[in-house]
Amino acid sequence: MTSTAFQRQLREVTEIAGNHVRVGERWLLNLASNNYLGLANDPRVEQAAIQAIQRWGTGTGSSPLLSGFTSLHQEMARTICGWKTGSARLNTAETHSGSKPAPLPSTAEIRALLFPCGYSANLAAMTVLLEPNAQVFADRKNHASLVDGLRMAKSERPEMSTRYFRHRDFADLERLLEQSDSHRPRWIVTDSVFSMDGTCTRPGDIGALVERYNANVLIDEAHATGVMGSDGAGLFSYASSTNAPGLWSQGRPKFAVVGTFSKALASIGGFFVGPAELVERMIQKARPLIYSTSLNPGSVAAAMAAIQWTIAEPWRRETVQRHSATLHSELTQQGWKTIGDPDAPLLAVVVGDHLAAQQLADALMEVGIWAPAIRPPTVKPQECRVRLSPTATMTPDEIQSVLSAFATVSKKIRNGRVT
Ligand SMILES: Cc1ncc(COP(=O)(O)O)c(C=O)c1O
Repeated sequence: MTSTAFQRQLREVTEIAGNHVRVGERWLLNLASNNYLGLANDPRVEQAAIQAIQRWGTGTGSSPLLSGFTSLHQEMARTICGWKTGSARLNTAETHSGSKPAPLPSTAEIRALLFPCGYSANLAAMTVLLEPNAQVFADRKNHASLVDGLRMAKSERPEMSTRYFRHRDFADLERLLEQSDSHRPRWIVTDSVFSMDGTCTRPGDIGALVERYNANVLIDEAHATGVMGSDGAGLFSYASSTNAPGLWSQGRPKFAVVGTFSKALASIGGFFVGPAELVERMIQKARPLIYSTSLNPGSVAAAMAAIQWTIAEPWRRETVQRHSATLHSELTQQGWKTIGDPDAPLLAVVVGDHLAAQQLADALMEVGIWAPAIRPPTVKPQECRVRLSPTATMTPDEIQSVLSAFATVSKKIRNGRVT
């Protein structure tokens, strides 16, 4: 088969040493991983996984609804709830910023559920939570798993409608909400940090629209988990949502959150957090939960240890945010078009068509930097890009080496092509 510019390839990593990986004969600084906090090769996290495997075995061999829900899974669900509601912090009395934990605005019971991965958690949320006549308002740049979940939901709900609003354009969202039917349920569905742009949604704006249009919200916190918000608990924590009071109605939250352990939390596995009655509906109906084997104990324990170190070591999220902001400002100075919010853990360098992006990624690889080209259908044909996700454990020198690599490559660019 002949290879085309769009053909995807599996590249074998033969060795990993800290933030460097070996691919073929070459050692590369890895800007292609979402191991944002550098916990995936932290000995304490590795040890937690080893101990859990020794105690619980390597696999549960069963769906959580049969024998696959162990005390370890239960403890993890409680840990996530504690994190997302701010109560995990109550033991430490003060946060790194010296502020006291924000009180929960209600006594609403918040619960969590674990899934094999973030993708399946999103499929579950979309196929279970939406009512048969729901009206869904989704950001155009939402992750593929939300898009696929909506497609599945729609396939069994002929009366459901889905409208996409312009990326992070809350005026456009309001225009669609205004046109909608006030007698039918409304759901806003959005990523909190967008995976290919490094942009963040704004809880305050979403909350105001939720209040005005009596909507519900489902948020995918995959890239915010561990990095953004108080204690790294995400942008939509149940503790800090007092900043967006519209997200609450009569002491009850109008939002639910999906996330993953596969990025900052150094493991694999998905989670859903929300009001107890939604969690109960998921247990009864979510096919990705019912018909799939529960998470293996090593992965659960690794993610649980990662949450512990995320809370205890705020320098990790502060450093990754600083690296991201440095890359933004220095690359912009070099003349590159960067996009994303500087406090997000990732950014994109937009270069044009798919060939320009692939050539840039290849040229960076030549000088020791692994940063993937992102091409259609993931992004629009003229918005192809190279995506950079730094890691907290990268040194300032390593970040400088990324900047030097871009400077070297930019000297070789003629008419948008690397020569
Ligand atoms: C925004 C977003 N949501 C969901 C997922 C899926 O998470 P997981 O890798 O755990 O399936 C990803 C990861 O690729 C993502 O970027």
